[in-house]
Amino acid sequence: MSALFSPIKLRGLSLKNRIMVSPMCQYSADDGVATDWHFTHINSLALSGAAMFCIEATHVEAIGRITPGCLGLYSDACEAALKPILHAVRKHSSTAVAMQLAHAGRKASSARPWDGGQLIPLGEGGWQTVAPSAVPIKESEAAPVALDAAGMKRIREAFVDSARRAMRLGIDAIELHGAHGYLMHEFLSPISNRRTDEYGGSLQNRMRFPLEVYDAVRSVVPADKPVGMRVSSTDWVEGGWDLAQTIEFCKALKARGLDWVDASSGGVSPLQKIPLGPGYQVQFAEAIRRETGLPTIAVGLITEAQQAEEIVASGKADMIALGRAFLYDPRWGWHAAAELGGEVEAPPQYWRSQPSTQKALFGKTTFGAR
Ligand SMILES: Cc1cc2nc3c(=O)[nH]c(=O)nc-3n(C[C@H](O)[C@H](O)[C@H](O)COP(=O)(O)O)c2cc1C
Repeated sequence: MSALFSPIKLRGLSLKNRIMVSPMCQYSADDGVATDWHFTHINSLALSGAAMFCIEATHVEAIGRITPGCLGLYSDACEAALKPILHAVRKHSSTAVAMQLAHAGRKASSARPWDGGQLIPLGEGGWQTVAPSAVPIKESEAAPVALDAAGMKRIREAFVDSARRAMRLGIDAIELHGAHGYLMHEFLSPISNRRTDEYGGSLQNRMRFPLEVYDAVRSVVPADKPVGMRVSSTDWVEGGWDLAQTIEFCKALKARGLDWVDASSGGVSPLQKIPLGPGYQVQFAEAIRRETGLPTIAVGLITEAQQAEEIVASGKADMIALGRAFLYDPRWGWHAAAELGGEVEAPPQYWRSQPSTQKALFGKTTFGAR
């Protein structure tokens, strides 16, 4: 029996296997509104064999977008554009669809990666960014505006509004983006948070805003639907946010009912030194799971079926998420199932692709061709 292809329940959501398609920005929206690229991308990966697909960082207000091409869910137009995409997913796939809700904070107003990824100045299509403190990422860059009480309230409410829209769209789960140097992580990390009020300084104070956002979102998501959080488990910078603080944050989230921790890392400082290698972040999912008892998702350079199987079977994480491997091989889940003796659902249009040596891959399928 494959551990990777065993079921798991997150609150009221039952998943047939332990694989999630990691959220991946597509930089292809118009004013936050999904385009035909999103239709292609989301519907393609809804057939990947992963039990859960997580929609890319979906921004809760326009100035919270990383790039002008980033997806949003802050207007009726944003909501309307996602509707037919999800309708098609539901018609052809039984994958659960999660959505990552995000605000980029001081990392907003940036060029698309393929346009260089740099901060776009005001007047050149960029906009004024906001953050916990007026500290730019690089000293040479324009500083963000430090959020005041009204700004934080607006953003909390924006998360709630987007979560409500997501629920109207029938999204199965919410993942809050608390990682990669975006707004919530900026509050957590002492590198980006230099506030002297009750939102800065001590760990308790730095956790306050992300916990408020979590509470606000949780309060509008129905009780049977899970809410998870992606965290940066460390800044990979001496004196920055680290695993010990991440564990305290996760304990506070657990007390509030969090359903999973998606354990990523980095993103707040250009000084970060990341020891990249296969499964380099699995250690964080393992430690968080052990210290908090929360379900964890391991992510980062997990590419092989046996590697994923070992992570779940040995109890290092409850699930695994893959990003780039799914872009490269949009049927990664099928191939992993074939290798590990698991089963995936495939649409009948594709049943004839089942290899003759893998008769159980798609479960019970009949195909009467004349
Ligand atoms: C094109 C691309 C877009 C990404 N966008 C997001 C995103 O929207 N939200 C997020 O949390 N991580 C994002 N990531 C990070 C991935 O979700 C994942 O954590 C990372 O790529 C490491 O996993 P991998 O080695 O399996 O790709 C992105 C990665 C890629 C390659």
